[in-house]
Amino acid sequence: MNKLLVSLVLSLGVAGSAHALQGDAAAGQGKVALCTACHGADGNSQMPNWPKLAGQGERYLIKQMTDIKEGTRPVPEMTGMLDSFSEQDLADIAAHFSSQTLAGGVASPDLVERGEAIYRGGDLATGLPACTGCHSPTGQGNAPAAYPHLAGQHAAYTVKQLTDFREGDRTNDGDATIMQTIASRLSNKDIQAVADYIQGLR
Ligand code: HEC
Ligand code: HEC
Repeated sequence: MNKLLVSLVLSLGVAGSAHALQGDAAAGQGKVALCTACHGADGNSQMPNWPKLAGQGERYLIKQMTDIKEGTRPVPEMTGMLDSFSEQDLADIAAHFSSQTLAGGVASPDLVERGEAIYRGGDLATGLPACTGCHSPTGQGNAPAAYPHLAGQHAAYTVKQLTDFREGDRTNDGDATIMQTIASRLSNKDIQAVADYIQGLR
């Protein structure tokens, strides 16, 4: 009994430490020269199709970079770019972008009402849950749970992600396929409105 407990604690300890790979933001800064052309020197990209990474949660960033590296999330623009990075490198890069300050955007007044209704209330008729439950009322997400920060992100990027989830072109949202299921309940108009609302959220 005691032996069993001890080995259980030991194995949990090992698993725990494997996840607790600490990123070093200063070291990460020296590894992102290639990335800044698209994602911006301060993590705020200028092009609406290239995501802002500034202020994003570390766990989410590490998961996405791992998925992109392994091809489970196809990003043709980044082909081969992550191949030479170790797990420690990815943790350092994540810590670097996470420590930067996100530059927010604005929402268009004509879409804001519909976007806010979806974001805050979901839609009972279609069984759509509110986005706030996981991404938080301010759009900050939940960093320890790897639920991404959304607020201030380019609307065009968010539109593409929600459309990709809906059409099965982005399928790296885990076994529960949370985002694919949610996006399947959104029309093109809904996607445009909620993405626009998110761009102005802070
Ligand atoms: C040529 C432009 C380009 C370069 C250079 C580039 N990326 Fe990207 N990156 C993209 C695009 C485009 C996407 C989003 C693709 C999509 O629509 O899903 C992306 C997505 C990401 C994401 C996912 C963001 C999210 O919110 O899910 C991360 C993390 C990322 N890139 C990190 C990096 C890192 C680290 C580097 C440098 C090693 C890098 N990128 C270099 C264009 C680029
Ligand atoms: C039950 C939790 C949950 C709910 C509710 C939820 N999401 Fe998500 N969302 C997630 C998770 C988890 C991910 C990350 C998936 C991954 O790892 O690729 C995600 C990813 C996203 C992304 C991709 C972010 C990026 O940087 O690429 C967008 C956009 C998004 N969600 C929008 C929404 C919107 C809009 C709603 C409401 C209509 C919503 N989500 C509701 C859990 C949720």
